Formats: sequence, structure tokens, C-alpha cells
Amino acid sequence: MDIQLWREMLDPYRLAVDELILKFNHLIEEFHNANLYSPIEQVNGRVKKISSILDKCQKKGIPYDEIDKYIEDIAGVRIICQFVEDIDRVVEIIRQRTDMEVKSEKDYITNMKKSGYRSYHMIVYYEVHTLQGVKRLCCEIQIRTLAMNFWATVEHSLQYKYKKNIPDDVKEKLHNASKAIVALDQEMSSVRDEITDAQNLFQIKANVVSDILCNIQNLYKAANKREVIKIQDEFYRVFKQDDVEQLIRFCKELDIVAEGYRAQSLH
Ligand code: GTP
Ligand code: MG
Repeated sequence: MDIQLWREMLDPYRLAVDELILKFNHLIEEFHNANLYSPIEQVNGRVKKISSILDKCQKKGIPYDEIDKYIEDIAGVRIICQFVEDIDRVVEIIRQRTDMEVKSEKDYITNMKKSGYRSYHMIVYYEVHTLQGVKRLCCEIQIRTLAMNFWATVEHSLQYKYKKNIPDDVKEKLHNASKAIVALDQEMSSVRDEITDAQNLFQIKANVVSDILCNIQNLYKAANKREVIKIQDEFYRVFKQDDVEQLIRFCKELDIVAEGYRAQSLH
């Protein structure tokens, strides 16, 4: 297969990765806008490099014209969560979606790999629309915590450095580090409620302030300047008190004021 054809073959996978990243990022935004804790912390993805595809074909004896059929991770998306519990929520979200169909799942969290690797893997079918029509392809979604990701990233670099033959003493250190990561994830889970509460509060505050500023900006157009400045000063005063309840109350009052001007402008 010549290079031009490789690029053409990989193009729909690029589209799939781009779309999936966009969709998962949008989910994060939806959680935030609803003042809810997002089980997804960050999303990234990649299309497998041609050299890695060639390596895999060689290793597994896959003919070049059957790459589509046998390599399931040409499109790869990684979802990073803060806590182990979030992973189950993300898996459930993916299972429920109708724009992706789960082909298989591997739970390397319950069943840690010998290397110490932990992650939840899902292979999903996903449809993209191109000039050539609809193409249904496979995508590998890896779901892991920030801590698991830290370990996997370092271990991957070492695999690369040692060309997959990591010396035994380094392997042992990695194994110990992996145990430490399990303990860290457990420890973090035990403070999860407190952290998610704090994050929720932070998000609520951000949304309320954004609503208030939006209203004040609109009032600049409709109301008299002196009154807007008075409202603005009041906002600063409430904001300084660092009490979300007060901010919410102020926001509601401001809504009523703004509503009054909107009603007026209709007459
Ligand atoms: P591959 O031929 O690597 O795709 O293996 P597989 O088809 O048996 O799938 P598996 O679920 O074992 O691994 C899929 C992907 O998970 C890999 O391409 C890596 O990105 C990641 N992975 C699996 N095992 C390890 C590991 O021990 N260390 C690291 N860093 N990543 C791993
Ligand atoms: Mg793979």
C-alpha cells in the first residue's frame, strides 16, 4: 500500500478521534454548566502512527489490507478521571450512548496486568460520515485515573527507552510504584466526597458570578448609569464576603431588576 493510501485509510480515524474528543469535552461542559461534578477530568486522543501500525502488523502477522479488521486501536481516546469511582460512571455513560456500540471491554483495574498496568479499556464501534459515505470503525477508549495515567506514562517511556526489555530491577521498582498508586487511589477515594463538594461549590460560584456579570453588562445598556454603578458596588461588596449563598441571593435579586428593565423595554 502506498503512502497516499495509508493517509486516506487513516483519515476517517482522525475524524472519529476528533469527534469523540469533542463529544466528551462537551459532556464535561454540560456537567459544569449544571453545577454538577464531572466524572471526566480530561480527554485526549490520537491516531496510531503508521510506524506503530506496521510494527503491530509484523508482530501479529496481520496483512496490510486487513488492518481495518484486526487493529482495533487505530483510533484511540483516553479519558482521565480524578477518582476510581468516576471510571464506573464513565463506563456506564458510554454503554448507554447510542452513537457508540460497545464491542468489548477489558477491566485491568480489577485484574491488574502483570506489569502493574491499570486502566479500563473499551472497544467501541463508531460511525463517521465522509465523502465516501458512512464508515463504521473501531475505537479504543482507555479510562483511568490521574494516578494510573501517571504510572502508565512513566512506564511507557521506560518501555520505549529499553525497547520493551525493561531490566528486572527497574521492573520491580515499577511494580512497587504501582502498588503505591493503588494505595494513593484508595486514599483519594476516601476524601472524594469532600473534594467533590468543594469543586461543586467552586463551580456554582463561577456560574453565579458569570450570570451576575452578564446581567450587569445588559443593565449598562438599559438602566441609568448611576444605578448600574450602585449595583456593581453592591456586587463587589457581596463578592468580598466569600459566601456563595449571599451571591446566589444577590443574583436572584438582580434577575428581578433586570427582568423589570426587559419588561419596560417591551412597552
Ligand atoms: P496491544 O497489542 O498493545 O494493543 O495489546 P492488546 O491488543 O492485547 O490490548 P491491551 O488491552 O493489552 O492493550 C491496549 C493498550 O493499553 C496498549 O496499546 C497500551 O496503550 C495500553 N497498555 C496495555 N498494557 C500496558 C502496560 O503494561 N503499560 C502501559 N504503559 N500501557 C499498557
Ligand atoms: Mg492496543
